[in-house]
Amino acid sequence: MQEALLQHLICPTTREPLRLQVEQRDGDDILSGRLSCETQESSLPNPDSYTIRDGIPDFFSPAGSQTQTIRSFAQKWAKHHYYRAHTHKFYTEWYLQRYGFFESAKLRAFLEGKEFILDAGTGAGRDAANFAELSSAAVYGVDATREALTIARRDISHPRIAFVQADVNRLPFPDAFFDFINCDQVIHHTPDPRAAFDHLGTKLKPGGSICCYVYRKKAVIREFTDDYIRDRISSLSVEEASEVCEGITRLGKTLADLNVTVEIEQDIPILGIRKGKIDLQRLFHWNVMKCFWNDGFDFFTNNIINIDWYHPQFCFRFEPDEFRAWFAQGWEVEAWDVQEAGISCRARKV
Ligand SMILES: C[S@@+](CC[C@H](N)C(=O)[O-])C[C@H]1O[C@@H](n2cnc3c(N)ncnc32)[C@H](O)[C@@H]1O
Repeated sequence: MQEALLQHLICPTTREPLRLQVEQRDGDDILSGRLSCETQESSLPNPDSYTIRDGIPDFFSPAGSQTQTIRSFAQKWAKHHYYRAHTHKFYTEWYLQRYGFFESAKLRAFLEGKEFILDAGTGAGRDAANFAELSSAAVYGVDATREALTIARRDISHPRIAFVQADVNRLPFPDAFFDFINCDQVIHHTPDPRAAFDHLGTKLKPGGSICCYVYRKKAVIREFTDDYIRDRISSLSVEEASEVCEGITRLGKTLADLNVTVEIEQDIPILGIRKGKIDLQRLFHWNVMKCFWNDGFDFFTNNIINIDWYHPQFCFRFEPDEFRAWFAQGWEVEAWDVQEAGISCRARKV
C-alpha cells in the first residue's frame, strides 16, 4: 500500500491517528509493517495495533455472527482466481446501467473532482479499478476477506488504489472523509444491513454520494427454495457446496439451451408471478429457484455465481419500499433501479 494513502487510516477503536513502523517496502509501497495508535504507549499490555502483510493492512477482527458468511467468501475468492477478468465487462455494464450512468463517460464526469473514494466490500476490486481509471481520486478498496484482496492486489497495481482488510461496520477512516462511497452487493451479507448502511453514511462528506445495491425479495416459491437450499448447504465447505450446486447450474444451462419463450397469460398474485412473455429459464430462475446461467461465462464461473447465492448464511432480501425508506431522511436520491435480482440506489448526502 502506498505510504501516502496509509496516512489517512485511523484506529477504528480509538479513532486516533496511527503510527507506521515499516518492516519491508518497495519504493513508496509499504509491503509489511505495523500501524499502532499514536497516543497509546507501546508498553501497554494490549495497545491497538494492526499488521500490514503483503501490502494490505489488516483491521479485521474475528467476524462473530458473520463468521460463516466471511469464510464462504474467502473460500469462494480462493477458489476462483480469474473471476474478475472473466466477468469484468458484464458486471461493469450492469453497474453503469443500474446506477444511471449508462456509459463510462458519464461515470467519469460524476467522479471528476472527487478526492477520496471508498469501494466497501470490493471483492476482487473491479469497481475500485474502474474508479481509479476514470478519476484522479485516491481509491480505497475494503473487504473483510484477505483472499479477495490478495487477488485484487495481484491483478490491479495502481498507485492510487489501496486495499484494506476491514469490516464495513468498523471502518478505519475518519468521519465525513469520503466524497463517494460505493457498496455494491455487500451489505445484504452483513448481520444488520441497515446498521452497515448507517455506518457508511457517517464516513461520507455532506454533499458526497453513495451507490448501494441490495438483493430484492423474490416470488414466494423462489424465496422458499432459496432458504431451503441455503439452510442445507451453508454448513458445508465451498468445495462440497459446489458439488451440490453443479446440478442446479446444469439445470440452468439445460433450460437456457432450450431457448423457449413462454407466455404467462394472467398474473398469479398468490405466487408473485407476473403475466407476460418470458424465457423459460428466466421464468424458472426468478420464480422457482436460482439456477443462474450465462452463455458468456464458463461452467465454473456460472456455478460460482450460484454458490455465491446459496452458500453465505447471511443473505437478506428487501422490498423496494423497505430499501427506499433508508433514503427518506438526509439523502437526495439521484438514480433508482429495481430489477428482479436487486435494487440499486445512487443518492447524495444532504
Ligand atoms: C458478492 S461480493 C461483491 C464484491 C464486489 N462489490 C462486486 O460487486 O464484485 C460481496 C463481498 O462483500 C464482502 N463482505 C461481506 N461482509 C463484509 C463485511 N462485513 N465487511 C467487509 N466486506 C464484507 C465479501 O467478502 C465479498 O467479497
